[in-house]
Amino acid sequence: MYFDERRAHFLQDRLHRRLRACGLDTFYSYYRLLTSHEGKAELTALLENLTVNETSFFRNRPQLDLFHKVTLEEILHRKQERRDWTLRVWSAGCSTGQEPYTVAMLIADALAYYYLRNPLPFEMPSLKPLIPPPWRVEILASDINYSVLRAAQEGAYPEHQMEPVEYTYRLRYFDKIGDRYAVKKAVKDLVHFDFHNLKTEFLPQRNDVIFCRNVMIYFDEAEQKRLVEKFYRCLNSEGYLFVGHAESLFGLTDKFRMIHQNNGTAYQRIEVAHS
Ligand SMILES: C[S@@+](CC[C@H](N)C(=O)[O-])C[C@H]1O[C@@H](n2cnc3c(N)ncnc32)[C@H](O)[C@@H]1O
Repeated sequence: MYFDERRAHFLQDRLHRRLRACGLDTFYSYYRLLTSHEGKAELTALLENLTVNETSFFRNRPQLDLFHKVTLEEILHRKQERRDWTLRVWSAGCSTGQEPYTVAMLIADALAYYYLRNPLPFEMPSLKPLIPPPWRVEILASDINYSVLRAAQEGAYPEHQMEPVEYTYRLRYFDKIGDRYAVKKAVKDLVHFDFHNLKTEFLPQRNDVIFCRNVMIYFDEAEQKRLVEKFYRCLNSEGYLFVGHAESLFGLTDKFRMIHQNNGTAYQRIEVAHS
């Protein structure tokens, strides 16, 4: 994790909180604890205090419109031509799950609309499943923070977090349970949550799309460059990368081409010819 001058105060404050919780009075004794064998659980607790987990449903709508109406349309068309019926999306740094669940709802909608206009050459069951066969949609959602992953897996959200979710989406994709909105099982079944540290080398491969939004801003430039290089390798050919509103690949790589439409931005992997 990278903390520049502007975030030093935040780091100091969070460290103080953990020092107090452990009953320690110096940074050095806390450092000794963290680096000891017994300190493993404390390291996890510290990490969970240092990550910024802010997120929301339908965050950055212009970008999601681009994903929904342009990117997905292009991928579905390209894949259908090759009779490749698998769509793999990775939400890297998924926090409490709003991002991967938004993506799942958008994919379900895009597939339904696509087949309204281009019927499949197969008989469709009268009770239409969320994902029309033979398509298989896999959304992998990962984070470094176990607490947010647990909340994401539960997938039940209070009213105030539902504000960006339109009425029709609430109706189709959520059940109201008590005072919370629970993501329907059919949507949950599309998303698989897992722990991944983006700084490691072993990351999920063969993705058609990667969402890594509002995560890189907390990395230094060298780490951002390494991450973008890893994302390049984790994408299928012509795959897409979506980064946060305040992030860009400018100066980090020349292996992606930028697509910018109606205020939404995406990056598509450029295929380099091998000699
Ligand atoms: C600000 S949230 C963004 C959530 C979502 N992508 C969005 O844009 O709404 C950043 C998330 O990245 C996770 N994160 C930070 N560093 C990470 C790392 N090295 N590996 C994996 N996840 C990380 C944090 O735990 C946090 O949940």
